[in-house]
Amino acid sequence: MLLERLQEYDRSDIYPFHMPGHKRQMDLGADAYHLDITEVEGFDNLHHAQGILKEEQARLARYVGADQSFFLVNGSTCGILAAISAAVPRGGKLLMARNSHKAAYHALFLRQLQASYVYPQISSFDIQGAIEPEQIARALAEDTEIAAVYVTSPTYDGVVSDIELIANITHRYGKPLIVDEAHGAHFGFHPVFPKSAVSCGADVVIQSVHKTLPAFTQSAVLHLCSDRIRAEVLEEYLDIYESSSPSYVLMAGMSRLVPFLQTEGEARFSALAENLRRFYEKSGKLQHLHVIREEDFDRTTAFARDPSKILISTRDCNISGRQLYERLLEEYHLQLEMCSGEYVTALCSLMDEEEGFERLAAALVEIDDTLLRQQAPEQGFVARMYRPRQQVCPIADAVERVHETMALEASVGKVSGEYVYLYPPGIPILVPGEHIDAGFVSDVREMKARGMMPEGLHDMRAEFIEVF
Ligand SMILES: Cc1ncc(COP(=O)(O)O)c(C=O)c1O
Repeated sequence: MLLERLQEYDRSDIYPFHMPGHKRQMDLGADAYHLDITEVEGFDNLHHAQGILKEEQARLARYVGADQSFFLVNGSTCGILAAISAAVPRGGKLLMARNSHKAAYHALFLRQLQASYVYPQISSFDIQGAIEPEQIARALAEDTEIAAVYVTSPTYDGVVSDIELIANITHRYGKPLIVDEAHGAHFGFHPVFPKSAVSCGADVVIQSVHKTLPAFTQSAVLHLCSDRIRAEVLEEYLDIYESSSPSYVLMAGMSRLVPFLQTEGEARFSALAENLRRFYEKSGKLQHLHVIREEDFDRTTAFARDPSKILISTRDCNISGRQLYERLLEEYHLQLEMCSGEYVTALCSLMDEEEGFERLAAALVEIDDTLLRQQAPEQGFVARMYRPRQQVCPIADAVERVHETMALEASVGKVSGEYVYLYPPGIPILVPGEHIDAGFVSDVREMKARGMMPEGLHDMRAEFIEVF
């Protein structure tokens, strides 16, 4: 039974270097069932908040410096869908980073939008980098049809773009900037972490508070910071994309964030910063594994880096990301957030404890001693998987066409009717409407050979793909 399995996991000595950010360290003070109600008298209605929910959301907006903040109970996903829908007219064009989460692509599909993509540079350790402001400036200068700009910062890997400059450029063209800050809800509260996009001039900022703050899974917030996107239109779309039965347990969790940060934030963020400092110092001595740090990026690949996303690269040694992830779990009971081809990710939050960092550092030293140096291929796994693809038609056109199911090898030269992505991070490798080439087929073969199963395809074994 699921409940028993969750309880068993909770009792185990497995250390959670994964979401949610509360790390199972919070206590509601009551059983969740006792707090779980619907919109009864005195408890307001999230879809047209007039009472306690309005006050709670206004308190959050004041705390972060937004014009208006909205609690989201369907994750950042529904905030992204609503923000893009409100910013771009149906059939219009969005300038977006190609390393966006699938929710942004789903907004393109639902609103039949066209996309103009900017691609991030890949860093020396094969990590998708930042979006450069000049890329945005060039695209906006070349294409007057673009209605809004959408950037993810930080990325899942903690790479931050220069949002202040991107916002200035975007506003010079009179367009709104939407920032997917799903992984940066903890930004702006301590000098070790970058500034939030809210204080950098973005028009809408969406944050998954469940990822890096002590909030329940699915809890997220949307901050509206200007009138370049109309609040009434945004609210109409939130109404459409969000459950009509928002959970009061989730909302109660979100309502605790501001008082928690006010009373405990400084001490906890300082402790996190110190634990991270010590961890990066200890792990700087590894011979084969490499813990990625700010110095591994240059001006074009990261404007700033979030140190609470610990990335451990296996690029120069004889172990894959998957194998390292498995060894950390099986031998050391450390559950990491995810593995990619050549790195693993440990997600930290202000609820982490010193013990976790010490266990991870010690495990890495021991594993490192068992490894051998190995020449890394010139082009890394991420650079190969997320290479630019040729866009043939908009997503909605591609999805709604009549498709033919073809064996992967036979599909070369066709146009995809489906997504292909790895989850996590949920960034599409191939988008409906993109051209399939021989490189793509070898990418899928490589993913499978490395024990990673591509998602998005109807054929779960990823042997067939729908094309036209
Ligand atoms: C960059 C990014 N944006 C948005 C999302 C969606 O967030 P949520 O799971 O809160 O809906 C994710 C989820 O992992 C993500 O990685």
